[in-house]
Amino acid sequence: MAALAPLLAALLVAAAAASAQAEPAGAPDQCTPDVLSRIAFGAGVGSYQTEGSAQGRAPTIWDTFSAASPSKIADGSNAKVAADFVRRYKGDVQLMRQLKMKHFRFSISWARLLPGAKSGSAPDAAAAAYYSSLIDELLAAGIQPLVVLYQWDLPQSLQDDYDGFLSPKIVPDFVHFADTAFRLFGDRVKTWLTFIEPAVFCNQQYGSGIWAPGVANGEAGRFACGKHVLLAHAAAAAAYNSKYRAAQNGALSFSTLVTWAEPASGSEEDAAAAQNKLDADVGWFLDPIFKGDYPASLRAAKGDALPPFTPSEAASLRGSLDFVAANCFTARFVSAGDAGKPGAWRESKVSPVNGSAVGAASGLAWLDVAPWGQGRALAYLQMRYGDPQLFISSSGVMAPGENKLQGAAALKDAFRTDYYRSYLNEVCRAARGGARVIGWSAWSFMDAWEWTEGFNTKFGIVHVDYSSPSLERAPKASALWLAANVFSRGAPAVAHAA
Ligand code: NOJ
Repeated sequence: MAALAPLLAALLVAAAAASAQAEPAGAPDQCTPDVLSRIAFGAGVGSYQTEGSAQGRAPTIWDTFSAASPSKIADGSNAKVAADFVRRYKGDVQLMRQLKMKHFRFSISWARLLPGAKSGSAPDAAAAAYYSSLIDELLAAGIQPLVVLYQWDLPQSLQDDYDGFLSPKIVPDFVHFADTAFRLFGDRVKTWLTFIEPAVFCNQQYGSGIWAPGVANGEAGRFACGKHVLLAHAAAAAAYNSKYRAAQNGALSFSTLVTWAEPASGSEEDAAAAQNKLDADVGWFLDPIFKGDYPASLRAAKGDALPPFTPSEAASLRGSLDFVAANCFTARFVSAGDAGKPGAWRESKVSPVNGSAVGAASGLAWLDVAPWGQGRALAYLQMRYGDPQLFISSSGVMAPGENKLQGAAALKDAFRTDYYRSYLNEVCRAARGGARVIGWSAWSFMDAWEWTEGFNTKFGIVHVDYSSPSLERAPKASALWLAANVFSRGAPAVAHAA
């Protein structure tokens, strides 16, 4: 375990350096004390992106992909060591405590907890002890553990044996993984996310194939993956309900990427096109749970490519989310697509009507700063899905050029603070207007390995010096701003409806 004292000393120096260029004081305007006190605020990471200690687990699809095709990773890197979180978590939890975070959201590596991966396989004792200790450290620091089961790191053996999420065989294996986690950790974990952004990983992992495992099966691939994710989620929720809920009293969801679709004009055609995009991105996963089937526009557009649910499958999906978890990063203008094609739309970052941009550019081509879109997204989820409890499970950005900065300059992230100030203002505005917002997670707690972007993309509120042997951590200015104005003023834990 890394020694704690030098780390904390380094942090204090770093914090002093960062606060030398202090942000304007105070919470966002809409974030009055009573609104903040209803929402639990924290930050998250993904296991594969931070854990390292690859030798302590079975191989995953990303190990295979980054080894076989380093040219497909922007900097040719891999995540064998990453932020070395498995060996450094105790120091990181102390930093979270100093930052007054109220929860920490992390994922469990399936290949670490269950090296055999399949139904019936036994948990690895060291892995179980590690996750248990992480949870205990968090609780001792007054930080709620919020656990994700699958953040994109499929055990390679399941890909080799039956093509992973392309096969219904994934369902019982995922349920065994979920059941193992509920059994080992559910006495202390009360908020679970089964999957992160299924639309994104199904599209990229089994549709376009630009991500591991690199399976380019187009529409058939992404929709088969989507169906099996939904069935796996529902079956895991059923296991939780029948075996654990009474004693553990937790809540389950999966997180959905919600990129707001703003009609480019006031025309009916553009409004319908924007709805088509929301149906295709969001309704694909949430409508089957809340409404019993895929959205009509998606059915019309995709026909037989969209695998239907049997009546018993549809019944298993209904009501299997306790709350809606949304990852909100950006927005798009949407206009009518090819008029002859059902379900079509065109999207852009610049309005085709008046040339205005959705927002300022960030350091990432896909992410422009559009806080107004977050406000609309929350109102949409509230209205379409019957006023559910809402959890913003990821919100974050990288500043232009941030990945080139080093030393003290890398801690001066006023751009990120401004992003959080404006996005949180919309979250608080929605909550003041009656949206049942129960939680909010910054993405991410620390700079990490960003899939095909490698270490080139930095989302952290905590800087990790990947050039230092000790992978030194230091809070950025945004972390200090969040600590003073948001983390410290929120609810002590996520309050799920009874
Ligand atoms: C959500 C993903 O789950 C996460 O791994 C990724 O780092 C962020 N989106 C940002 O792209």
